Amino acid sequence: MHARHRDTTDPLVRRERRRLVSRLARSRRAHARASRSIPGGVCSAAHAGGDAPILIERGRGARVWDLDGNEYVDMHAGYGSMVAGHAHPAIARAVGPTLSSGTCFGAPSPHAMPVAEELRSRFGLPLWRFTNSGTEATMAAVRIARAFTGRSVLLKVEGAYHGHHDGALVSVTPAADEAGDAAAPRSVPVGDGIPETVTRLTRVVSFNDVAALRSLFLELRGQIAGVIVELPLLNPTMVLPDAAFLDALSKVRTEHGALLILDEVKTGLVVARGGASELYGISPDLVTLAKALGGGLPCGAVGGRKEVMEIVAGGCVGVYGTFNGNPAAMAAARASMSEILTPAAYERLARMGSSVAAAFDAIIARYELSAVATVVGAKGALAMLPERPRSYRDWLRRDRALSELFWLYQLNRGVYLSPAPSTKWTLTVAHEQADIDRFVANFHELARELQQASVWSRRCAGAE
Ligand SMILES: Cc1ncc(COP(=O)(O)O)c(C=O)c1O
Repeated sequence: MHARHRDTTDPLVRRERRRLVSRLARSRRAHARASRSIPGGVCSAAHAGGDAPILIERGRGARVWDLDGNEYVDMHAGYGSMVAGHAHPAIARAVGPTLSSGTCFGAPSPHAMPVAEELRSRFGLPLWRFTNSGTEATMAAVRIARAFTGRSVLLKVEGAYHGHHDGALVSVTPAADEAGDAAAPRSVPVGDGIPETVTRLTRVVSFNDVAALRSLFLELRGQIAGVIVELPLLNPTMVLPDAAFLDALSKVRTEHGALLILDEVKTGLVVARGGASELYGISPDLVTLAKALGGGLPCGAVGGRKEVMEIVAGGCVGVYGTFNGNPAAMAAARASMSEILTPAAYERLARMGSSVAAAFDAIIARYELSAVATVVGAKGALAMLPERPRSYRDWLRRDRALSELFWLYQLNRGVYLSPAPSTKWTLTVAHEQADIDRFVANFHELARELQQASVWSRRCAGAE
């Protein structure tokens, strides 16, 4: 049952879409109202859903509830921001007092210090500046790299998302027919409003393509300020880095004089205590954080080597922000790292992640599904492909209908995955074995139904 026929999957997708829409009457009405005062009815393009936007009203621990009262095990976890679980009492205890003692001074305050000291210990980088989002963190990192090297070109990986500043919004989800040759991908801006001159300064390579990385450095000798990369690549699906790619990345400074910016907005504080830096034993020049850093409050950070970050101290590089290091976010970050995201928590998350991977692998083998599960610590993804993807181009070939079906199936059976169809998840410290069991059981039920539907459609076609 390797090749999934559309006549097997499509009726199931239609049925599950109808089922979902029928459970969301209040969400749909609220979305219609929101659309009159908020473009598209959503506060971020990434919040726009499929046919039926699901308005999440509240969350506690591993659960969220939508406006219609439907309860879900939350495996989206705010794109991984909520690895501490929703409304954790330790975060409430830490943030609560700041509401009565002041949440923003726009001035130096003592609250940022302990958080920076904890990040020093986790990432082995001595100097940190706080921001309010991942976008601000990567924007600052790129500017610092340019200032430090005196060069202009930014190199990024095709399919990677690094926030919504102009230079980063290049080749995030380019269509196959505009992306160009895989060995030398075109720089494709995301949507309108990005000046061509800015897009041209962002050059693109395929993940794991060491030869392309080398040849770009040759072509642009002395022009590349930095390489920004996420390990593993997480935007399209989860793509693991080859050892040779890691090796090439770790040499961009010594061999080419460019800085390595490891974007750990999603991975930092989630896949290990010291993020992907620790996991892959890599020593970047700059690291960017956000999402899980704030324990659910908006917070980001850029950290780096002493000689690189010192240029920020001198004020020659513009890194600003009224709310940077504000007491509320700092209190949440401090509590999250000291009380919740402990070494024992990472061990438990890794164990749970491995158990999901093993269960998914068993289902894939038993039902001969054309799918691959990839798990790194708390993060995981199911790619509807015959083989593990090595780049964004591989992911473009996934079975889209089957991917949407997995998402719909989970939503309709009490597991929330994301606003738009996605087959990725983040486990949190609040998840229990019963939550994992439900997630796995839903996938099992889907595999069984696909097998039955496929046998039935082959019978009808006279193939058996
Ligand atoms: C790897 C990565 N970098 C940067 C960002 C931007 O972060 P934010 O949404 O906080 O601006 C994201 C957001 O998803 C991300 O995944």
